[in-house]
Amino acid sequence: MARNKWLKERLPRLPFARRAVRRFMPGESMEEALAAAETFKPAGIGVLITHLGENLNDLADAQAISDNYHALLDEIERCGIDGELSVKLTQLGLDLDPDSPLKHVLGLADHSARLGGTIWIDMEGSAYTDRTLASYRRLQEAKGNIGLCLQAYLRRTPADLETLLPLKPAIRLVKGAYDEHGAIAFRHRSEVNAAYGSLAMRMLPFAAAGDLKLGLGTHDLVLIDEVADKAHTAGYPITCFEVEMLYGIRSAEQRRLASEGYRVRDLISYGDAWYAWYLRRLAERPANIVFALRQVFG
Ligand code: FDA
Repeated sequence: MARNKWLKERLPRLPFARRAVRRFMPGESMEEALAAAETFKPAGIGVLITHLGENLNDLADAQAISDNYHALLDEIERCGIDGELSVKLTQLGLDLDPDSPLKHVLGLADHSARLGGTIWIDMEGSAYTDRTLASYRRLQEAKGNIGLCLQAYLRRTPADLETLLPLKPAIRLVKGAYDEHGAIAFRHRSEVNAAYGSLAMRMLPFAAAGDLKLGLGTHDLVLIDEVADKAHTAGYPITCFEVEMLYGIRSAEQRRLASEGYRVRDLISYGDAWYAWYLRRLAERPANIVFALRQVFG
């Protein structure tokens, strides 16, 4: 469904779909995202903010997205929010011109550096893995405040990670949200979880030494506990990594972790291009489909 053009054009216009997506995003406007970010301040929870969208047809749109992100950084600074951006390279024109996202991310990295922040790059479907890694290497070598999402379900990720370690990278480790073939990705939950644990353990000493900024992008509390236990045993503080979760998912746990001394960041999305992104959220958990259907039937 995420790839179906007919649905993509029609579903987002339906009121029930707009109601259902509110579970995972505070609203389509930047103002709504910033207002939501404010609500996390008292709990000491930072935010990642992303303007939803992927795969452009026109490079002028990449410029518009980049301008919008610069405006967002200005607002983050003005409101005193502990906020960083997460961007997709295809949304900055990767399909049309490989230099386009480089130019835009370099500009955003400079802007973020003035606020002491990191610019995070999402990892998209496997058709983009090589190009995303190549772009990341060039960007991180040039700026040093750029983060990359790595997907534990990809069989190639341990090898990719080894090539990134010398760059003193910022890595957000996620399980992976796209429907990938078994030849290149683990398909069973137990295999993905094992891969996630092993990648996190590999990065932990680098994070503790300050040679890697580690974000655990997961709602899996068992895995988070495992990493925390390992950090404890090794004598590392639990602040050597950050827990990153999506807006609207495990909200109470985000606050609990923050109150227990974990560094927590909530990823807030805004923008009107939420269709494919929303369907990936539904696919992650069948119970969400029941929730969405309830919006149809009131
Ligand atoms: P898992 O799916 O095993 O979920 C663990 C538990 O969390 C579930 O049992 C449930 O209770 C809860 N949960 C998880 N997903 C839920 C949902 N949608 N609704 C309700 N409850 C849910 N992927 C990617 O391919 N590229 C990327 O760039 C990113 N970026 C990214 C950033 C951040 C901050 C996060 C948290 C996640 C991503 N992802 C991503 C998505 C990621 O790959 C993955 O699909 C989701 O995080 C779900 O997997 P979990 O690790 O949470 O585990």
